This record gives sequence, C-alpha cells and structure tokens, in this order.
Amino acid sequence: MALWGGRFTSNPAEAVFALSRSIDFDWRLAPYDLRSSLAHLSVLEKAKLLQPTDANAIRGALKELQEEVALGTFAPIPEDEDVHSALERGLMLKLGSVGGALRAGRSRNDQVATDLRLYAIDHMLHLGQSVIDLQNAILVKASEYIDAPAPGFTHMQHAQPVSFGHELAKHAHALQRDVDRIQDWFARTSLSPLGAGALAGSSLSLDPLSSATDLGFAGAIPNSIDAVSDRDFVAEALFILAMIGLHLSRMGEEWCLWASTEFGWAKIDDAYATGSSIMPQKKNPDIAELARGKAGRLVGNLTGVLTMLKGLPFAYNRDLQEDKEPLFDSLDTLDLVLPAFTGMVATTHFNREKMAAAAPTGFSLATEIADYLVRAGIPFAQAHEAAGAVVHLCESTGKQLHELSDGEFAAIHPSLKSDVREVLTVDGALKSRGTFGGTAPSEVALQISTLRGNISINSTWITNESKRFSGMMGA
Ligand code: ARG
Repeated sequence: MALWGGRFTSNPAEAVFALSRSIDFDWRLAPYDLRSSLAHLSVLEKAKLLQPTDANAIRGALKELQEEVALGTFAPIPEDEDVHSALERGLMLKLGSVGGALRAGRSRNDQVATDLRLYAIDHMLHLGQSVIDLQNAILVKASEYIDAPAPGFTHMQHAQPVSFGHELAKHAHALQRDVDRIQDWFARTSLSPLGAGALAGSSLSLDPLSSATDLGFAGAIPNSIDAVSDRDFVAEALFILAMIGLHLSRMGEEWCLWASTEFGWAKIDDAYATGSSIMPQKKNPDIAELARGKAGRLVGNLTGVLTMLKGLPFAYNRDLQEDKEPLFDSLDTLDLVLPAFTGMVATTHFNREKMAAAAPTGFSLATEIADYLVRAGIPFAQAHEAAGAVVHLCESTGKQLHELSDGEFAAIHPSLKSDVREVLTVDGALKSRGTFGGTAPSEVALQISTLRGNISINSTWITNESKRFSGMMGA
C-alpha cells in the first residue's frame, strides 16, 4: 500500500517499485516504528487532535501489532514499500480509516530518522557490552601471564622483553577507547527527530519534547531541517564499529602469528579452531582470520555511508535510505565476531617456557647496557654507541651479551664493569621498567586493576541505559 498515491494517475512501474522498496531490509525497524508511533499518538492526543475513543483504539491496535510483530504473526507482504507503510497497512486492517489519523503532523522523514536512532542506540549499547565481555576475557588472561616474560617487538624484530600480561592487556586498553566512544556517541545521538515532520515542523501545535521524553531520548533535535537530514550518528557509529573491527583485526593477526609453528606461543582450544579438508594435521586460527578479514567490510560500510552523505543537500533525499544496510551489516558482523573471538581468547593457552626462552634472544637486552651507562653518568648518545659495539662484538664472536669477558666489556667502554651482567637478565629488565604504564609486573598489575575499575563503571552505565531504553519499549 503506497502512502502517497493522491496526486498520481498511475502506480509506479514495477522496476521503480523494486528499486525504491526497502522493506526487505528495514522490517527490523518495526518494533521501533511502533514505539515511536505510540509516542506520536500521545502527542496528538495532548494536542486534542484525536477523539479519546479513537486514540484508545489506535493505542490498542498498536500494542496488538507490537505483539504480532514480535510473534511474527504480522509480517510484510510483497506490496509493502517499507516498514512504515507495512505497519500502517496493519493498523488500517484493524481499524479501517481511523488508523490513518496517526499520520497527522508526521512524515516518514522524521519517522525513519527516529526509528533508526532508536535501533542504533539499542544495538550499540548491546555491542558495547560484548566489547566489555572481550575486555574481561583479555584481562583474565593478562593477569595469568603478568610474570611471564616474552620478547616485545618493534618492526617485528625483538626489541625489549616485556611482561606477556602487559602485551595482552594492551588490547583491553584499546577496546576501552571503543566503549568510551560509544558513550560519547550516545550523548550526541540521544536526541529525538520526531516532530520535525517532513522538514519544517508542524502547524498542529505538537510537542516534540514530550515524544522525545516518552521515547527515552535526553531531548529533541533543536532544528527540524537538521533533524531529518542528519545521519552523523550513522557515520559515527560506523566509525566506532570499524575501529572495533580494526582492533580485533590487529589482535587476530597476533593470534595467527603466535599460533604458528614458528612462534609456538599460543595453543588455540580445539573448540575455537578449525581443520583442513585435505591436511589432517592442520589446526587453523580461522576465528582470528575471519576477524581480520571482516574488518574490510566494516571499513567499507563506513566509507559507503560517508560517500553517500558527501554533497547531499539538506533535508531528506532518498539517498538517505542507503544508510540502513551498512549500519545493520556492521552491527550484525560484530555481533557474530565478538562472542567467537571472546571464546577464543578465554580458552587460549600460552607457552610460558617458549616465550621466556625467546625473551632475551636477538640481543633484546642491549638497551639495558645503554641505560646502565647512563646511570654511570655517560651521555645517552655515547652509551648507545657503546651498547651497539657490544652487540657487534657478540655477533662476530657468536656470544650472548652476558657471555663477554670483563676485559671485552672494559675495552668497549671503561665504565662497563663486571656488574653490568646483573642488568643483563630478563627479570631485571622487566622489574626495572616500573614507570607509569611500563612493563614491570607490579606496574602491569596496577594498570590491569585500574582498567578493571573503569570497565565496571562502563558496564554499569550500559546496563542502566539499556534498562531505561528497554523500559521505554512498551511506551
Ligand atoms: N524508506 C525510506 C528511508 O528509509 C523512508 C523515508 C521515505 N521518505 C520519503 N519522503 N520518501 O529513508
């Protein structure tokens, strides 16, 4: 059923209907559309634009539709153009022409903007909790390996030894920014476009602030033209989702490396790995690879929406219909990836011995020699030069740093005394890096416990906002 046939002499051509139809992907907005219809109904009622009996009949029918949509007993038919027209058909089926009264003072332009905001808020909050679940899984592992030394890398070359707990926890810190981003995105997104009408507001003395409050928004968008045009919230959400995807992708890459035979650090649990159809010995880190691969589509969805918005005139243009599929796809994608990834992290075992054995290799303690000389009053540039010469001598004599003789050390720099060997231990190197954020196990423990506190604050915030919004679901 078209919502706009009056001034036309013919129905749209089949190809046009097929092109403009959005019901195949926007039906998932139905619960939010019904919710905003109930809020709009109250506004019409307050403005005395509906007889109380009609208003009650419409409210009853909308509530019935809420149940029927949830049960699947009311569903779209091929003739429905979009979620709004399908639900209006449902209302008319129940009420006859009275059902059409709800359209007063409202347009699909403010309706769809409202529905999508509600959907986005609901799902971004849910996703935030899934990110928190992953953070918690990471931190459980990180705590387990605080005292396990491992080589730390720059340029994929051994750089300095680190606590493997520190190495793992860094991912939880990166994800913390994603949850923070969801929170400040939420503050901007929690404004209602409903009441903006097509673009100019309404002559029917409706109160957008009242429907905004009914729907759980913090307020109404202060400019009706902006209200129907703005899709910043979609682009921003897609950026946040892409960033989460990038974080998972970078983490996935590490899991792939660590699980390789060459590294042999990580043993992925059988339940979170896959086999090969031809090579019976294979155990593949497919979850990590899929996480890495799916980052591509998340970035693609963001790019698609930004490009669609570029140069788009205000106010509503049909181009905006293209905002939904990318958003739904990014949310669905992460909804799929996150639980699997979290399970993989929670069940991976790391080989302490192998990581510890690799920690001092590649002359990763050379910086300790330079720092030792700095403590003896030598300027760093000179200290760096001397430590470099130590590495050079080791390479040409096939020795490890601590294996050089007192004479060899002294020949390179007179301040290199025999006690230099004391700093040439992985344990000593780790313990000495107790600066804020550093890799000393005591410092890592502190970082983890501070982060845990922040995560729990975020988690409470999400629980409260989700409760508040779902409490409004019946509105
Ligand atoms: N399906 C449309 C969308 O998603 C709904 C709004 C249509 N409004 C209009 N004036 N044609 O954007």
